Amino acid sequence: MITFDAVTKRYPDGTTAVDRLSLEAPTGEITVFVGPSGCGKTTSLRMINRMIDATEGKILLDGEPVQGIDPPTLRRGIGYVIQQAGLFPHRKIVDNVATVPFLLGWSRKKARDRAMELLERVGLDLSLAERYPFQLSGGQQQRVGVARALAADPPVLLMDEPFSAVDPVVRTSLQDELLRLQAELNKTIIFVTHDIDEAIKLGDRVAVLRVGGQLAQLAAPKTLLSEPADDFVREFLGRDRGIRRLQFVPTAGLPLRTDLTVPEGHDGTADEPWLLAVTPDDRPVGWISKDRPGQLEQFGTFLYGQDPLRSALDAALLSPSGHAVAVDETGQVAGVLTRKALDQAMMEAADG
Ligand SMILES: Nc1ncnc2c1ncn2[C@@H]1O[C@H](COP(=O)(O)OP(=O)(O)O)[C@@H](O)[C@H]1O
Ligand SMILES: [Mg+2]
Repeated sequence: MITFDAVTKRYPDGTTAVDRLSLEAPTGEITVFVGPSGCGKTTSLRMINRMIDATEGKILLDGEPVQGIDPPTLRRGIGYVIQQAGLFPHRKIVDNVATVPFLLGWSRKKARDRAMELLERVGLDLSLAERYPFQLSGGQQQRVGVARALAADPPVLLMDEPFSAVDPVVRTSLQDELLRLQAELNKTIIFVTHDIDEAIKLGDRVAVLRVGGQLAQLAAPKTLLSEPADDFVREFLGRDRGIRRLQFVPTAGLPLRTDLTVPEGHDGTADEPWLLAVTPDDRPVGWISKDRPGQLEQFGTFLYGQDPLRSALDAALLSPSGHAVAVDETGQVAGVLTRKALDQAMMEAADG
């Protein structure tokens, strides 16, 4: 069980990202943290494995304060899955998955055998094992990310928007796969998403957070739907209605900017507040903020001309840049749909 006991996180600039959060994530269950962008989901998650330390309050892992456990030991028992899977680009798939067991001192053969077993378990064809990450689709990479997190058989799994950057059909199959796996494995999972539908589908219990990092409600999905605690929760649950119609608005012909992409490793210096780092073959890697040039921020993609405007909005909401990345069927960047262009398109959709 993971316990948050009056946990607060204030960043040095004064932002209160998480405000006296208290809740329990029971062993063997999926607890979902859901809420709008900036409500402190990622911060909450990263305080569990001490990538971020809490300012006040305690986080307990089976009753033991994580603050008292040194991070490497702590992380051995905690798998971590992020958007875009975060795979090592220069290692083969099998070696990506075998990394942790290998680091734990397993023989190379044993670690690789374990990796193959896990690849099969997450529904991947074993012929993919000898490929490199860029040779896999987004959905396949995400499965590898899950396999890698499970490699050392940790009792706890933290998942931060793991399925948000893949298209809706693949997302559905990844969600189904996670539920199937969880029925076998009974991990203690904390799953972060901004998508209320995903939260309701996956969560045994759902914690709805509001901006400012406060817990609005913690309940089973059914209770959440039937007895929302307040107007914020009611509106968040019903938000879907307002934007559902964007599902039927095409993205074909929307104006894209093609001057915002830079090669991976770029230092981010430019007049633009945000630049999109791409691989040599034009696949998106992350946003670079002018203010934090050394850091890659998460991004969202939509299939240009095929996905509806709702997917573009979703992609924009996912990223601190506020922009959505348009890709083609091969996953290469077609351009950037800026927040401004997106707003314009949504206004036109509302008029028409
Ligand atoms: N390193 C940081 N320094 C200052 N503020 C931050 C930092 N990281 C996140 N924040 C702020 O904390 C709040 C919560 O962020 P985050 O936990 O990433 O939210 P979420 O994952 O729900 O989108 C936001 O206002 C964000 O801008
Ligand atoms: Mg986040």
